[in-house]
Amino acid sequence: MPASDRVKRGMTESSWIRRMFEEGITLKQKFGADKVFDLSLGNPIVEPPAEFTSEIRRLAENPIPGMHRYMENAGYPETRAAVASQLAGETGIKYTGSDIIMTCGAAAALNVTLKTLVNHGDEIIIFSPYFAEYFHYISNHYGIPRVLPTDDRFLPRLDALGEAIGPKTRALLINSPNNPSGVVYQDEFLDQLGTLLHEKSARLGHPIYLLSDEPYKRLIYDGVKFAYPSRHYVNTIIVNSHSKDLALPGERIGYIAIHPDCSDRAELLDGFVYCNRTLGFVNAPAIMQHAIRRLQAITVSIADYQRKRDFLYENLTNMGYSMLKPQGAFYMFPKTPIPDDVAFIRELQQELVLTVPGQGFGTPGYFRISYCTDDHVIEGSLSGFRKVARKYGLC
Ligand SMILES: Cc1ncc(COP(=O)(O)O)c(C=O)c1O
Repeated sequence: MPASDRVKRGMTESSWIRRMFEEGITLKQKFGADKVFDLSLGNPIVEPPAEFTSEIRRLAENPIPGMHRYMENAGYPETRAAVASQLAGETGIKYTGSDIIMTCGAAAALNVTLKTLVNHGDEIIIFSPYFAEYFHYISNHYGIPRVLPTDDRFLPRLDALGEAIGPKTRALLINSPNNPSGVVYQDEFLDQLGTLLHEKSARLGHPIYLLSDEPYKRLIYDGVKFAYPSRHYVNTIIVNSHSKDLALPGERIGYIAIHPDCSDRAELLDGFVYCNRTLGFVNAPAIMQHAIRRLQAITVSIADYQRKRDFLYENLTNMGYSMLKPQGAFYMFPKTPIPDDVAFIRELQQELVLTVPGQGFGTPGYFRISYCTDDHVIEGSLSGFRKVARKYGLC
């Protein structure tokens, strides 16, 4: 058998998101692309901001000598300094370029961080619902994902966290705004979390790192502000990317930012550089590092996402679907009207509406809708949602 047992196991537990996306391709071939309403993948249809196109044009017309060569594995010092300066301005924390490692998106940033931190069998705590790839990333580096519950507002339960932290706990991985729930953690919650991690680290005699996965931090609605975990806990390592805020997921550009006062900062930074190199990323794409340097304060249109969210939320709740109004990111996570979320999304699929079952995020009984798509797809999905809502007596 050519593939290893671990890879075969990983493939059989493969992502529901990808599975639905691929089934969508088959349905589109059969029924026509305009008849299928694909709300499965978080792949933004918006184009990057005009400033990005100008930067690319400027680089093409005025190439920087040596711009396609190898570089330091951590990335260009000028780009790292630009990222640090933006972060310092936003957080009030004195980040400098030396705290930043440029990566191939948040996915690489997570893998580099986990490889650096995790000894065989160490536990990484995550909360359900979670981004499903976390499981694979943690297992890549022989860590054990320890899944803990959230409360009825999808906030991590701190009592459960307090009980779960033990000698094997290496880090806690959080994601706000959250994929899939759309929840945005607030300062008060992060303050309690920071206090708990501080106390537990002191008791255990080793730091528990807080990995803060922040790719949606600019996609927040109704004037809600992003609360920075790094302000509440010094042993915070940010992983981020421009996949969502600049709509560049195919370009693979992101970064790791370590708090300047983080425990064992120097050794961790050396580890990140080593792992970026030896995982085979080598460095983040050169042209993207040049392009995003001046775009640190730019974001795609939030108003457009908010309009899509409002339209879908209003229509679905009027049909009787039950959900928390998402505060950020571009997902909704309603309850399924029957306990079997896979059976429910199959019903929607019969109506050519594609969503993802909650069990793909460790939370059966819910389903995820991704609304970063064209208006006509969102509008076209409504009749399928209504038909299935009627079938289950919601409206
Ligand atoms: C919560 C979360 N983290 C990380 C990623 C990976 O993002 P990137 O494209 O930057 O690797 C995604 C992508 O959808 C995500 O939703």
